[in-house]
Amino acid sequence: MSQSQLSRREFAVRCAAFALSWPALRALAREAGAAAASAPARTVRLPEGPAVPALGQGCWHLGQGRHPAAVEEEALRTGISLGMSLLDTSGNYGHGRSEELLSHVLAGDRERIFLVSKVEGDEIDGDGIARACAASLSRLGTDYLDLYLLHWPVPSAKFAGVVAAFEQLRAAKKIRAWGVSNFSVSQMDDLLKVPDGHRCATNQVPYSLNNRRIERDLLPWCQQHHMPVMAYSPLGGDKNLVIKDRTLAQIGAAHGCSAAAVALAWVIRGGNVIAIPEAGSPEHVREDAAALSVALTPEELKSLDAAFPA
Ligand SMILES: NC(=O)c1ccc[n+]([C@@H]2O[C@H](COP(=O)([O-])OP(=O)(O)OC[C@H]3O[C@@H](n4cnc5c(N)ncnc54)[C@H](OP(=O)(O)O)[C@@H]3O)[C@@H](O)[C@H]2O)c1
Repeated sequence: MSQSQLSRREFAVRCAAFALSWPALRALAREAGAAAASAPARTVRLPEGPAVPALGQGCWHLGQGRHPAAVEEEALRTGISLGMSLLDTSGNYGHGRSEELLSHVLAGDRERIFLVSKVEGDEIDGDGIARACAASLSRLGTDYLDLYLLHWPVPSAKFAGVVAAFEQLRAAKKIRAWGVSNFSVSQMDDLLKVPDGHRCATNQVPYSLNNRRIERDLLPWCQQHHMPVMAYSPLGGDKNLVIKDRTLAQIGAAHGCSAAAVALAWVIRGGNVIAIPEAGSPEHVREDAAALSVALTPEELKSLDAAFPA
């Protein structure tokens, strides 16, 4: 079989089916990486920005001893080679340790990666956003972020100042775009009322099969405003993982992929959502990356609606 004939799905199935040795896994990862590079990529276009992968990698717990650092770095590199080249971190993840771990992965590969970090609500006064950004850049070992997010909402009266600070960072080429996180529809409406508020690139919010709240209001709002949603905890998060569900397993068996891949394929099904699952091992990343090549049928979507009502 030629390299281009090995799809990511076949790759995931092979890994699951055989207890492959490390060298064999690495060889297959290279093969699947080559296939991923030639396959049409699933991407989401940011307003005024580039197309980014529909599936990125969350980095909240990385660099904090949950898994050996070398394994976490290998997981990130594996994900990047399989098309998950958007990395989501924050200045406050592990007091900067997540960003420090990412610096090893970014070194020598910066241009391939779409890098997202965040600033906290209690850092916004005065020149706080510029200082927080400088600290993140230093920990990450890079001179720009692709996207900088306000991690949690602040009072609407402060939106104009936050946007002005983000725009100054953009003009100084420290960030290429900015956005928000955990904003409600009414906060998004308020944001659009301040000067340059319309430049917001995304709103990062929780979205998974067992947390479909945004379908009521925020998801349609973002679609109307041509703004992609970035879905965090897309597997349900540590305490509420969806992957043991029987319907997911059955659909996964039909597609030759894991329940996790089906859950992620569901999150990114509409074309306006970027999912950022966190995985601490290359094995989990490979399973997750298979979501990029899973197209769920109308019948499968119906079964998932029944198993996980909106
Ligand atoms: N903006 C915000 O306020 C906010 C809030 C929360 C999260 N986030 C972002 O979203 C990212 C993801 O969210 P999250 O960590 O809460 O939830 P998640 O991605 O839904 O779930 C992470 C969990 O899924 C497991 N997992 C991943 N792939 C798997 C697979 N194929 N099979 C089995 N288990 C698998 C991971 O275990 P292993 O570690 O063992 O692989 C981990 O326990 C974070 O890293 C962060 O970047 C943002």
